[in-house]
Amino acid sequence: MKINLKYSFAIVLVIVVVACSPKVKTTTTTPAPVTDPIMLAKITEGKSLYETNCNKCHELHNPGKYNEQQWTKYLDWMAPKAKISDDQKASIFAYLSNNAKH
Ligand code: HEC
Repeated sequence: MKINLKYSFAIVLVIVVVACSPKVKTTTTTPAPVTDPIMLAKITEGKSLYETNCNKCHELHNPGKYNEQQWTKYLDWMAPKAKISDDQKASIFAYLSNNAKH
């Protein structure tokens, strides 16, 4: 049986999504710091995305230079400039807000 390419991509995608989806959540008592492996992966991904996409026009700004609110504003402004997807933007925001000024 011949499986067309688009179809097999869809299968791979489903496998990846299933494999990466959160396991049944065990009850956690303390909210912070971040221990959720999915969130941690997002922050790690966001860091590398930040370091590769946000230094093309200017030096990287230290995440601790701004608070979460300021990063929200700056990311809304910079995301179109950096031509990043909404997913990438969300990961970068996870990284920045996790290291933002309080
Ligand atoms: C296409 C060029 C370009 C890219 C890519 C870019 N920026 Fe910018 N950014 C600018 C310009 C232009 C300014 C305003 C003038 C300046 O500070 O140089 C700016 C300003 C900023 C400022 C404000 C600095 C201040 O002191 O007010 C922040 C924060 C910032 N960028 C973050 C980011 C982040 C985060 C990314 C990645 C998502 C990014 N930038 C990607 C061009 C870019």
